[in-house]
Amino acid sequence: MRTVYWEDGVVKLIDQRRLPAVLEIVAYDDHKKIAGAIKDMVVRGAPAIGATAGFGLALAAFASKSTTKKDLLSDLQAASEELVSARPTAVNPGWVLTRILTRVAKSEMLDLMETRKLVLQEAQFIADEDVAINLEMAKHGSSLITDGDVIIHHCNTGSLATVDWGTALGAIRMAHEQGKKIHVLVDETRPRLQGSKLTAWELEQYGISYEIITDNMAGHFLRSGIANKVYYGADRVAANGDVANKIGTYMLSLAAKDNHVPVYPVVPTSTIDLTLRDGDQIPLEERDPREVLDLYFQGERVAPIEAKARNIAFDITPHRLITAIVTERGIIHPPFEENLAAVMRNE
Ligand code: MRU
Repeated sequence: MRTVYWEDGVVKLIDQRRLPAVLEIVAYDDHKKIAGAIKDMVVRGAPAIGATAGFGLALAAFASKSTTKKDLLSDLQAASEELVSARPTAVNPGWVLTRILTRVAKSEMLDLMETRKLVLQEAQFIADEDVAINLEMAKHGSSLITDGDVIIHHCNTGSLATVDWGTALGAIRMAHEQGKKIHVLVDETRPRLQGSKLTAWELEQYGISYEIITDNMAGHFLRSGIANKVYYGADRVAANGDVANKIGTYMLSLAAKDNHVPVYPVVPTSTIDLTLRDGDQIPLEERDPREVLDLYFQGERVAPIEAKARNIAFDITPHRLITAIVTERGIIHPPFEENLAAVMRNE
């Protein structure tokens, strides 16, 4: 089952807020509701929100009442801006929408209905391509995994974070399918708990050995020599190799570096943004503090009722803490500035 797909004129999503308790598919017929679903994290994970935004644009194309091509293009531009602004850190929605709009702008010969169909066709193509890219990444990423590895994994980077198969978790899954005996320490990933909720749910289904750890246990497992690899995804990689990923990735990478444990972000090249010089230029989303404060333990709210909180959703890991970046085009080693540029030129 795919995380996001188009069926009978609507966009269907697995509602990730309800997992692992309930596997519910929700349908959307309006691009504004799609933008809301991305913001509310019905769907999340950089490639998954990219594909969802693409299908959202197709909804906007079919809903547009424009009678001229120029007006249709301006409706698509407006819809695209709404979809991109739903979550600012991941580059993927912007990448998908720019790709579709560029294709549409070049299709001067097509009439209005053919143009609408082209938007859907492109969105579908990008969704299918995501799965193929993830399989390629998994091949490269799994080649770094060996029998006996104990891997710390942060957030959720599996099928649910993409259209299917996943990025870092896809590599781990492929290593398991190759017969390698591995164990995954799953960071629970405060505050939204994508690790406990989603990664554990996926690993359970793949039959991969795992244990959930609280995020602040990672340092212990790295220092004691129990964990020997760190895998995660990314929402955006800057030209110098700095990586934006789920909050907590920086501290995890620091502890790994201090203990000489290799760190591998697994990312599709669509997540690499050479327009941004370094991680300081990547916009970091700050979410509603209630996601931090609405925590209950043994039936009682943990924080005082008057408490205030900060909820930064992503952080930047400087490239010096990263061993290599795995992409569908191969494994990229330092110096990242030079080697990322070469890979993006497809050399
Ligand atoms: O806030 P989320 O759940 O959308 O954050 C997701 C991540 O941080 C993932 O690691 C990232 O999108 C890359 S996984 C394909």
